[in-house]
Amino acid sequence: MTATTDPDRYAVFGHPVRHSWSPLIHAEFARQTGERIDYQAEEIPTNGFPAAVRRFFAAGGRGLNVTLPFKEEAFGMCESHGERALDSGAANTLLLDPEGRLYGENTDGVGLVGDICERLGGRLEGARVLVLGAGGAVRGVLGEILRMRPALVVVANRTRARAQRLVDERSGHGAGLLACGLDEIPVATPFDWVVNGTSASLGGKVVTIPDAVVAAETGCYDMVYGAQPTRFMSWCRERGASRVYDGLGMLVGQAAESFFLWRGVRPDPEPVIELLRKRLV
Ligand code: ATR
Repeated sequence: MTATTDPDRYAVFGHPVRHSWSPLIHAEFARQTGERIDYQAEEIPTNGFPAAVRRFFAAGGRGLNVTLPFKEEAFGMCESHGERALDSGAANTLLLDPEGRLYGENTDGVGLVGDICERLGGRLEGARVLVLGAGGAVRGVLGEILRMRPALVVVANRTRARAQRLVDERSGHGAGLLACGLDEIPVATPFDWVVNGTSASLGGKVVTIPDAVVAAETGCYDMVYGAQPTRFMSWCRERGASRVYDGLGMLVGQAAESFFLWRGVRPDPEPVIELLRKRLV
């Protein structure tokens, strides 16, 4: 007879976190892979994050996801870091390493790049990539985009200085990497990929950029998602782009990478993306 043990405990900490899809995504991953886990969403007071993390692991918790507004604070309290967390100064995945130290990694970039290159069949190597925005969302993925060795990455932001700061942090990187304002985007040739990492779509606003950045074959990716195409997605389609995607695949992809770091098993994002897509409509 085998002893019955409680499933390993995981959670996402955020504020707010009520609408998080993560518990559903990880429950689906667990079902798919036969792993026994319990995964909850917990809303943490904005001044209580470090104490909540310590309590969770002291009580035997195995891993955490961290979402807004705690990703930088999570990075700061980790005693060891993955390469991608170091790239971005933010951590969305926490666990205890074999020495019992708090380890943080950031899986957002892998989520985005995996979605583009594996699920959507895109190619970033040698590509000309335009990234819109220079806030936390872009900081979290820029290192991973650069790791794919694109020919050119232009980071364009409404506030040019923020884009410049992001680019300066990565000076010495092999790929061509430029910062500019939204009205200074070089448009001699359309981009291969345009990734919207601004929060404009969340407010139903469109980012004002030149029409010529997009052509029929440009891959257009909005890092946010919703039941309806975002304003950015509609804008791209109106300019003839046919490969236009939202960030649902990135959401599931970053979760899959967290699951892999915790369990050593890689779930298949596709059926979970399909399930969420149905729930969105
Ligand atoms: P996040 O963590 O989502 O990245 P953030 O750090 O507040 O949030 O960054 C929001 C990003 O969206 C910024 O790049 C912001 O541009 P500014 O740096 O100029 O503020 C961009 N953004 C938000 N609303 C926008 C709009 N209506 N048009 C263009 N850019 C917008």
